[in-house]
Amino acid sequence: MAQILPSIFGANLLRLQDEIQFLEAEKTEILHVDLMDGTYVSNIAFGPNQIAAMKKASSMMFDVHMMLANPERHIDDVINTGAEMISVHYESTPHVHFILQKIKKAGRKAGIVLNPATPDSVIEYLLDDIDYILIMTINPGQPGQIFIEKSLEKIRNTKKLIAGRNIKIEVDGGVNAEIAKKVKEAGADLIVVGGALFNSNPKESYESLRASIQ
Ligand code: DX5
Ligand code: ZN
Repeated sequence: MAQILPSIFGANLLRLQDEIQFLEAEKTEILHVDLMDGTYVSNIAFGPNQIAAMKKASSMMFDVHMMLANPERHIDDVINTGAEMISVHYESTPHVHFILQKIKKAGRKAGIVLNPATPDSVIEYLLDDIDYILIMTINPGQPGQIFIEKSLEKIRNTKKLIAGRNIKIEVDGGVNAEIAKKVKEAGADLIVVGGALFNSNPKESYESLRASIQ
């Protein structure tokens, strides 16, 4: 069953507690939390301290999407936030295998993130070390971008590479209700949504997003 993961980066940050309570009342299981360092991507958002504070105030599982240069320098702090799922960009470090092992050893779900130009084949030697693959369907760092259509082919190819293993496919960027249906049909399990959920009438938007993947 595919599911929607709200991206807290798209929420109204002046009302963060209300937004978290709204998502919990809507029975959200997993919250997607972006961590951006201003170097690997131009934006800056949610450091480990802020993530830990949100985690304490919430009963949802946290999926931390690390968009960081030198993730090896920050991984312990990210693990200490209590996040249940942590993903690292393939392109962000030569030591991606090391980071994935650290996440797994801490008893969390480990994800590898692929940028739009990163081939799906890079996961070949990581298949035993990951719980999920996050396919970026925009270039990371900025909300409000247009979904890259070529991603549908990448989702289908990744599904083939997984070959029945217990590895989930997550997508992130530019997803609305119509695209949620398409990525689900292509094989996505975890569908991150920011703007299309929070920008106008979140309750109705959430309903139509969920209806689109039924
Ligand atoms: C962007 C982030 C996304 C972002 C998605 O780099 O990784 O999680 O919040 O926002 P939308 O759904 O608006 O593209
Ligand atoms: Zn993200």
